[in-house]
Amino acid sequence: MTTPQQSPALDPEESPGTGAAPESAAPDRDFPMRRGCPFAAPAEYAALRTDDPVARVTLPTKKEAWVVTRYDDVRELLSDPRISADIRRPNFPALGEGEQEAGAKFRPFIRTDAPEHTKYRRMLLPVFTVRRVRAMRPAVQARVDEILDGLLAAGGPVDLVPAYANAVSTSVICELLGIPGENLEFFRDVTRISGSRHSTAAQVSEALGGLFGLLAEVVAARRREPRDDLISKLVTEHLVTGEVTTEQLLSTLAITINAGRETTTSMIALSTYLLLDRPELLEELRADPSLMPAAVDEFLRVLSVADSIPLRVAAEDIDLSGRTVPADDGVIALLAGANHDPEQFDDPERVDFHRTDNHHVAFGYGVHQCVGQHLARLELEAALETLIRRVPTLRLAGSGNDVTVKHDSATFGLDELKVTW
Ligand code: HEM
Repeated sequence: MTTPQQSPALDPEESPGTGAAPESAAPDRDFPMRRGCPFAAPAEYAALRTDDPVARVTLPTKKEAWVVTRYDDVRELLSDPRISADIRRPNFPALGEGEQEAGAKFRPFIRTDAPEHTKYRRMLLPVFTVRRVRAMRPAVQARVDEILDGLLAAGGPVDLVPAYANAVSTSVICELLGIPGENLEFFRDVTRISGSRHSTAAQVSEALGGLFGLLAEVVAARRREPRDDLISKLVTEHLVTGEVTTEQLLSTLAITINAGRETTTSMIALSTYLLLDRPELLEELRADPSLMPAAVDEFLRVLSVADSIPLRVAAEDIDLSGRTVPADDGVIALLAGANHDPEQFDDPERVDFHRTDNHHVAFGYGVHQCVGQHLARLELEAALETLIRRVPTLRLAGSGNDVTVKHDSATFGLDELKVTW
């Protein structure tokens, strides 16, 4: 369910540190907290960072967990070998019942620990190196241009979320994997259902089952006749050799699609919205396109769309900022908390394309750090650079008040962004 979003201009960044100091370990604090402004972390994070940096919260599932908001603590936690990402642990802090049950059933490697996790991660890493991704640039650019050609030919106003953001992210990942004639809405629905906090286990299972079915057909076809794509490579090098089962391969492919699509879609849409809301930033980028790589990293930091993706359980007692997360308790490393920590980022709410040492954690940290981050950066650079260059009159359609924000899904983002030109 979405809620109407006020224009960020009417709803300025909520001032940090104004909340009353929360009582330590009080389980009456609900998580997730809502963003007042789509371009900032929830206002409560600033108060937590100062007053209760390792805070007890109640999740939508009624379970309790800890949330960590300081940059140093988030990095320490995510690189601590005593932390587990195993979704089968009873106190795993899933934000929806559906996610927990379906995760335990399908076992996506993002929610597993070594040695299992290491095995699948190593299968994917060679495909997503800087060098391999650089070689994909012409193909990604061609896709972006093709999608924009179609959009411009059809004319505005248009909802940029499905027509551009989702189209770019889905077609790039499908092309890389070798999934032919991709159905953009099908993939969007799978992620919408599997990533929603309100989905039941049956709904998540059904959505993922549909995705597994489609992937199983492609895997079988590539087994018969390999091509020059990622699925063929994984089939030839890991499935045929008996290193992984078909089910394990399907699960790895499914999480790669799910993790890569939704986050990138959200980032393209939200970054565009931010640029349209702050014309001085748009002008700066138009005047000097060489700023784009730095701008993308700044958007990643400020927007932190994967804020509450790093869900963990403490396998042993873990001390952080003078507090102990007891063994077997769930804990969430809040990436938006870390990325807006003034101890690490000077004036963190300012969007600054000239920031030096922008060591944000938008892609996580430690052993689960995003496998697809180089590809994500490439997609964002191509999608944003092309859009602002080729559509100089791009603007919000109507009053701009009908932009809708997704508050209920694993990845923060927009449901709708109507634009015209
Ligand atoms: C802007 C876009 C993206 C953002 C913000 C993002 C963010 C993240 C984050 C925060 C994690 C770590 C989760 C954790 O610690 O539990 C992660 C993991 C992952 N991401 Fe991304 N991601 C993006 C794009 C992509 C793309 C394009 C792909 C692939 C095509 C991808 C594939 C993955 C995979 C497979 C993992 C699991 C890694 C592991 O567990 O070892 N992501 N991503």
